[in-house]
Amino acid sequence: MTLEKILVVGRQPNTQQAARPFAKKLYAADEVEDVWELLEAVDPNLVIFGQDVDRTDILQTLQSLRKHNLERPVLVLGPLNHPPLETYLAEYKSAECVLNIENNDQLADAVRRLSQSEELPASDNRFFMEDCPSSVSIVGKSRAMMQTLRMIRLVAQSNCNPVLIVGETGTGKELAARAVHILRNGSQQRFVAINCAALTANLLESELFGHTKGSFTSADREKIGLLELAGNGTVFLDEISEMPLDLQAKLLRVLQERKFRKVGGLEEIECKATIIASSNRNLFQEVEAGRFRRDLYYRLCVCPIPLAPLRAESRREDILLLAEYFIQTSTICPEKRGKIKGLTSMAAEMLTRYHWPGNVRELKNVIERAILLESSDRIGTSNLLLNPAFSFETDQPQETAQTISIKDFSLEKAERELVKKALEEAGWQKSRAASLLGITRATLYAKVKQYNIQEPEKKPQPVS
Ligand SMILES: Nc1ncnc2c1ncn2[C@@H]1O[C@H](COP(=O)(O)OP(=O)(O)OP(=O)(O)O)[C@@H](O)[C@H]1O
Ligand SMILES: [Mg+2]
Repeated sequence: MTLEKILVVGRQPNTQQAARPFAKKLYAADEVEDVWELLEAVDPNLVIFGQDVDRTDILQTLQSLRKHNLERPVLVLGPLNHPPLETYLAEYKSAECVLNIENNDQLADAVRRLSQSEELPASDNRFFMEDCPSSVSIVGKSRAMMQTLRMIRLVAQSNCNPVLIVGETGTGKELAARAVHILRNGSQQRFVAINCAALTANLLESELFGHTKGSFTSADREKIGLLELAGNGTVFLDEISEMPLDLQAKLLRVLQERKFRKVGGLEEIECKATIIASSNRNLFQEVEAGRFRRDLYYRLCVCPIPLAPLRAESRREDILLLAEYFIQTSTICPEKRGKIKGLTSMAAEMLTRYHWPGNVRELKNVIERAILLESSDRIGTSNLLLNPAFSFETDQPQETAQTISIKDFSLEKAERELVKKALEEAGWQKSRAASLLGITRATLYAKVKQYNIQEPEKKPQPVS
């Protein structure tokens, strides 16, 4: 039984000797303090603590790894003589202890059991960057994603608050926000999200700040707002550009003073949460257009985390990687799981040429649709239903009533047309139109508002 990577902790040479037969690659940390850095850098399948490592240090390390959602299968060598560690190891499914380091059979059994443990990290180097923490399943190896991941890590390790994440729709902003949250707080703290485009101004205010009983007509009980509910965790403000201006002023006060009041309340409540905002619009342009407060913009923009669109040259190489990842992990059709091996070369070509206006979300939807339709073991072009209006480098575009003119290359115009067409196609049902476009309903609402798209008035139908 050999594992890909084992990290050995301790200074005794016999620990490394004991581990060597079970590892393709062996890494060593002299001190417990080095474990964190090596875990991040190496992402080992197993960590072995030698007999010389202080038992209290081991316990503390395991507890904080668990707190930060960075657990790994663990083997502790030698007698424990430490009841709290014994109790901890007994509870911890993917941790074992081998008392006699000389007993090779015992060691081999323990390594085998641990390698089969359900808690083994699901890291797969094909999809994730070498040094991407396995608790953060962000697929991508492109230059753009390397920079994004670096920023995520730097921001998470700092005290930066608020955090801004920017990128087009579907590029992975919420995923990035969750990554910052997990890397900063572990999985114990709350992550609460609210979409600023999906609620009216009053509702948004009371969701965020909470309200006191009787503060407005329908406030029949006291309500705790998300800023309070999040505790030491994270409040994710999705589509912050859609926040009404007067609420932006109130948010700015929270960010500056770290205090707020419930709607109708007098008491000052402390805000301890990290506030992460996301935007798929250019906030600077929104400031210039008078729709976003300049002071809030500068407050948010300390260390923005960018997510490049899939069509960007610096991210294009992730398209096939993501496609393969979605093929492997999709649960849409359980009976086909593992049977579809990949894409035909024509299909792969088609995906890399496409413009991806809905980015990763659209790609995921396209792949899931293809899995449903495909009956062979490779997804072919006929089952990749892409929107032809956005294909790159096609032969002369055929302009029919069904296609959209892209002569002037205005992405905004094309997007407006596409949203309108999807709505028409869906009989103006917003959920259906959103799923046709591969975007969320909230994003669709925002686009309808942005482009002022209105449903034509229905003509009254004759009764008979
Ligand atoms: N790098 C990635 N690896 C794996 N899955 C991804 C990645 N990026 C995005 N996804 C998936 O794509 C979908 C959209 O991602 P997400 O919701 O984070 O995008 P978004 O930028 O917040 O979109 P929107 O602007 O529309 O709110 C989700 O299902 C997410 O899990
Ligand atoms: Mg989002």
